[in-house]
Amino acid sequence: MIDLLLCFDDESVLAEALARAIGCPLQVIERHRFPDGESKLKLPAVLPARVALLRGLQQPNDKLAELMIVAPAARELGARTLTLVCPYLAYMRQDMAFSPGEAVSQRHLGAALASWFDSVVTIDPHLHRVATMDEVLPGKRGLALSAAALLGDWAARHAQQPILLGPDDEAAQWVHAAAAAHRLEHGTCVKRRSGDREVAVTLADMDFSGREVVLIDDVASTGRTLVAAAEALLRRGARSVDVAVTHALFVGDACQQLAAAGVRHVWSSDSVAHVSNVVSVVPLLAAALRTPPTT
Ligand code: R5P
Repeated sequence: MIDLLLCFDDESVLAEALARAIGCPLQVIERHRFPDGESKLKLPAVLPARVALLRGLQQPNDKLAELMIVAPAARELGARTLTLVCPYLAYMRQDMAFSPGEAVSQRHLGAALASWFDSVVTIDPHLHRVATMDEVLPGKRGLALSAAALLGDWAARHAQQPILLGPDDEAAQWVHAAAAAHRLEHGTCVKRRSGDREVAVTLADMDFSGREVVLIDDVASTGRTLVAAAEALLRRGARSVDVAVTHALFVGDACQQLAAAGVRHVWSSDSVAHVSNVVSVVPLLAAALRTPPTT
């Protein structure tokens, strides 16, 4: 259990729901943004022993600078154990140097978080070449929860006998988890990305004609992965294409592009607040915080 949940004002809705679910007090960290972009942060003057901080890392760079300050400040103010509850954990996709000289952001961000927090609880992190969150956080405890089963259940109840499809082989883990409870037909495609918004998807060798298909993925950013898959599915005769993702980043014109591609519904978890949120990760996070990982 934890004694106090901290959050920032822009995530107070999710934080209030989580604090209610675990029956613990919530305090909002006060933040002043100086004209030059620096942040002044104010925590409660005295903190209890077991503190958790809710901070999602969508649009991560400024937030990381604030975490770098909040974590040691919390310890100075009395926190003995510090858990980061990070519904969306950024920088997980850069998990190898794809060309010489590229920083392996996953490794370096993991090391930084491990130096600030005792444990990190997150949802559907993009773990592909690394198997567990413990490996991401050297010497500390990481816990990866998944919203995939919730999205699979939603899809089963809102589409007719859908096929669940991952746009790339990295999505296999989420598609399997989403399909399991209702024993839905499922598969994965092959993706080739040549730029931020340039994506080609080769569909799985399955019969999609006349079928309702739900695309399942961990995260939608520009939406171009889902657009490419949806267009290919409709060309192959799918009756409808819906989209269900854990993390609804949907940057820029992503939603308009999905609509233009013929996507019927866009569904997501509330790990990132978005108009498409239909399932809540609060019960998952609450269960994890009641029995936090120990070092
Ligand atoms: C990467 O493999 C992820 O699982 C997503 O498929 C990807 O990040 C989506 O990015 P975008 O929406 O920009 O195509």
